[in-house]
Amino acid sequence: MPLKSFYQFMKEKSLEYYSQCRDIGQDFFTAPELDRAFGYAVGELASELLKDHPQSVILELGAGRGTLAYDILSFLKLYSPELFERLHYLIYDFSQGLKERQRRLLRDFEGKVFWVDEVPEFSGLVLSNEFFDCLPVRIAKGGKELYLEDGKEVWLPLEDLEVKDYMERLGMKEEDVAYEVCLDCVKFLGELARKLREGYILTVDYGYLEFPKAGTVVGYRGHRLVKDIYSSEPFDITASVNFRALMEYGKDFGLEVVFFKNQRDFLLSSKVFVEELSAVAEDQSPQALERLSRLKTMLISMGERFKVLLQRKGS
Ligand SMILES: C[S@@+](CC[C@H](N)C(=O)[O-])C[C@H]1O[C@@H](n2cnc3c(N)ncnc32)[C@H](O)[C@@H]1O
Repeated sequence: MPLKSFYQFMKEKSLEYYSQCRDIGQDFFTAPELDRAFGYAVGELASELLKDHPQSVILELGAGRGTLAYDILSFLKLYSPELFERLHYLIYDFSQGLKERQRRLLRDFEGKVFWVDEVPEFSGLVLSNEFFDCLPVRIAKGGKELYLEDGKEVWLPLEDLEVKDYMERLGMKEEDVAYEVCLDCVKFLGELARKLREGYILTVDYGYLEFPKAGTVVGYRGHRLVKDIYSSEPFDITASVNFRALMEYGKDFGLEVVFFKNQRDFLLSSKVFVEELSAVAEDQSPQALERLSRLKTMLISMGERFKVLLQRKGS
């Protein structure tokens, strides 16, 4: 392998994985795939945020199988029909294979859902679940940046001023910590904020406020952690999201924080989620018990690790 930065390696690995990706669920599960109650909770929030918006657009980033879109649209059709009528639902995704799956799943909503190759100018709501963790990170430690050569790690002087600024701004000062710096995350957020005339950005992902020091880049294949991150087999590679960076740089882009909470608190503050939870908890059927266990996964094992950030851009 010729010399390349870790950033370049991660970017290529992610592109390779998602260009071959046949399905979500083979290698990892996401909350929308566990139960419709997740999408209903997001739909309920969308209906509160957009009810007074004359031009209602939702842009979903990285829609996977299209399940979250399906559940949000089903919820709005049932509980917020006026909003549903005037809504356009846009999807931004780079995986051809997954876009085909989305088109198949969302056939019932033909004329409502559209696919875009770049972020358009609009007013409304941008939302994503497990999108930002896919964006590649730079790794920097003690004034050096991580590169790879012939499968081996090499540390070269850190020259990129944007990386240095990011680290200074976020207090990444310890000499012996290999920090992860996601400039692509803040650049993408900046692009969203520029294109969003007025509205909200909802980001759900696993992440942190203070860098956990141990390093968060991992690979998943067949629901297992990949042991050798540099192996040539295709796998999903991700890094936990630095939510402090999204909030801090968000200020530069005119984004104010409406709320930041963990997934458990977000779901338990949703009326429709709690109704779905109560209904399955009272039902003794095997299907209801199965659903109950999936809802508990969202609340317990994913509940703290996943965060929900809502930012607003005023007119
Ligand atoms: C981990 S999956 C999450 C899927 C879905 N949101 C869910 O919760 O099930 C990541 C999604 O983001 C898309 N994606 C990842 N990196 C991307 C990029 N750089 N540009 C556009 N789409 C990307 C993938 O194709 C996939 O649909």
